[in-house]
Amino acid sequence: MKKKIAVLPGDGIGPEIIEQGIKVCKAVAQRFHHDLEFEYGWVGAEAIDRTGNPFPDETFELCKQADAVLFGAIGDPKYDNDPDAKVRPEQGLLAMRKKLGLYANVRPVTTFPSLRGKAPIRPELLDGVDFVVLRELTGGIYFGKPQGRSEDGLTAYDTSVYHRFEIERIVRLACEYAMQRDKRVTVVDKANVLATSRLWRSVAGEVSKEFPEVTMDFMFVDNAAMQLIQWPKKFDVIVTENMFGDILTDEASVITGSLGLLPSASIGQYTSVFEPIHGSYPQAKGKNIANPLGTILSVAMMFEYAFQLHEEAEIIRKAVLKSLEENYVTEDINSEHSYTTSEVGDWIAAAILA
Ligand code: IPM
Ligand code: MG
Repeated sequence: MKKKIAVLPGDGIGPEIIEQGIKVCKAVAQRFHHDLEFEYGWVGAEAIDRTGNPFPDETFELCKQADAVLFGAIGDPKYDNDPDAKVRPEQGLLAMRKKLGLYANVRPVTTFPSLRGKAPIRPELLDGVDFVVLRELTGGIYFGKPQGRSEDGLTAYDTSVYHRFEIERIVRLACEYAMQRDKRVTVVDKANVLATSRLWRSVAGEVSKEFPEVTMDFMFVDNAAMQLIQWPKKFDVIVTENMFGDILTDEASVITGSLGLLPSASIGQYTSVFEPIHGSYPQAKGKNIANPLGTILSVAMMFEYAFQLHEEAEIIRKAVLKSLEENYVTEDINSEHSYTTSEVGDWIAAAILA
């Protein structure tokens, strides 16, 4: 099979982890005789430095023409500490999501038996956790207008906006996911306070009628934040708006044992983007210590969702599991005896070819 992959390493540890993802792609291509073409593009702080724009038009074109996009991370401390910066790297990520119509961010959360005891939660609560969060990605408070500051600078405002069609399409996707799984959907909102949440509830209720086999329940986000940690096994598919999904998936990453392990897929209108859920981890930039597994598992999701190549995805996942079982891991997982980012990447690529 011939596929073109747009590669956007981004900032911080992005380039280091993406390199491991590419190694894995090449190993899979070699083993299964696929023809993969990689084309690199700028995004984030790197893109601002070069072009003034965190998501330049050339990068947009590159993504549109690709069969899938592999994305590293975005963010640079020099902008975080400057509240008056006119352009910010994160705007590149938001522009990419909006322009590519990446409306659903799929973040699976499972526990790995070999990491039992690594998470700061009692292990018996975590054995066999397996749920997926569908985070809405192109609406809500991240994009709503008006947003800004009053002229005197004393007041600031953000606006959360949701249209019916935006809720409908992601809730439908959540129900389709549930049909492949345990047929349960939890809609997370704040309907006791927010008008957007009340629209979510009514639209979700209507969509659920199309899926009589799916059981849908509704949960306020504060309660969901608590239940995720207390009874994570009870969830199957969670669907929620943009900001709640951002917060809950960072929380959920604690369940697996390391933020560095969680992959994601963003389903889009033009193409889909695959990226680890963690950020650019600037403190580790260039040190070859970051965990590449979130990226490598995102590559597995790419083979599965974008190319429909399930065996390839499974081989990648098996190699990752094996690296965890054999303790061939980075320092976030084993601080006493760890391997570097590139050593873990090499090991997994070799395991795929073995
Ligand atoms: C994520 C990140 C981004 C978000 C940031 C970097 C803008 O936290 O992908 O979860 O908030 O969506
Ligand atoms: Mg986040």
